[in-house]
Amino acid sequence: MPEFILVNPQIAPYVGHIQLNRPKELNALNLELMLEIKQALIDFDQDDNIRAIVISGNERAFAAGADIKQMAGRNAIDMLKIDQFTTWDSIRKTKKPIIAAVSGFALGGGCELAMICDMIIASETAQFGQPEISIGVMPGAGGTQRLTRIVGKAKAMEMVLTGQFISAEEAKAYGLVNKIVPVEFYLSEAVKLASTIAEKSPIAVQMAKESVLKAYEMPLQEALFFERKNFYMLFATEDQKEGMQAFIEKRKATFKGQ
Ligand code: CAA
Repeated sequence: MPEFILVNPQIAPYVGHIQLNRPKELNALNLELMLEIKQALIDFDQDDNIRAIVISGNERAFAAGADIKQMAGRNAIDMLKIDQFTTWDSIRKTKKPIIAAVSGFALGGGCELAMICDMIIASETAQFGQPEISIGVMPGAGGTQRLTRIVGKAKAMEMVLTGQFISAEEAKAYGLVNKIVPVEFYLSEAVKLASTIAEKSPIAVQMAKESVLKAYEMPLQEALFFERKNFYMLFATEDQKEGMQAFIEKRKATFKGQ
């Protein structure tokens, strides 16, 4: 049983939920918690009854970053040996779409975790930041790379070099956040978005997610080639036949994930 997260494989039909559960520490991401998220996502990826995933914290904090108390006494060799970011790499490889439901603080590793997710629903109280510079380090879980690709160089530099937080409004204006809702709805709105995706063909969703992510990782020509292969491959699925036939027959498609 996980100690630092709550796992619900069915918060809604075909939607799994992971809730970070270290409220007193503002969901600070210790190594054990990250391993639990990694394992929960591996389990969700293997579960045919889950087609989309929501990760949330609580109203006060999504996560206030890596656990500073756990890291404070470590030296460079300790960090190298622990190599915590292989856990993050595994999380990034999750095949099913992940929606981050963010309320309150999403700082440091918390902001980086939200950015590893595929979309972010934020409450009006959400605050995003990369404050590592204020404790003598810098982002290490993708903050200098993913943030820069999302918000652009000028804003990323400002956030990473000053450590200042940005509001949900500003995050939305910079394309970091998909939607802002009143605090009481941030989780339900994320589940709603996940449920909409869960109605689609899970294989098409997986291939589409993988293809969009390639836009960040590959040169354009190679990424277009990758997209094309995935597009052709979907014509090997029953879901493609069902989806197109349903359109022609003017009815709602029922996708089986085959
Ligand atoms: N690690 C460990 N403990 C943390 C924590 C963190 N990242 N963030 C908060 N906490 C703990 C606090 O120590 C405090 O514990 P105690 O009650 O035992 O003292 C508790 O959570 C509540 O926090 P505060 O009393 O500080 O609450 P606040 O409302 O006054 O301030 C805050 C909230 C602005 C988020 C402040 O807690 C803060 O600045 N936290 C650290 C943010 C940060 O620097 N994150 C980056 C971490 S490094 C990183 O993430 C590296 C990476 O790239 C992976």
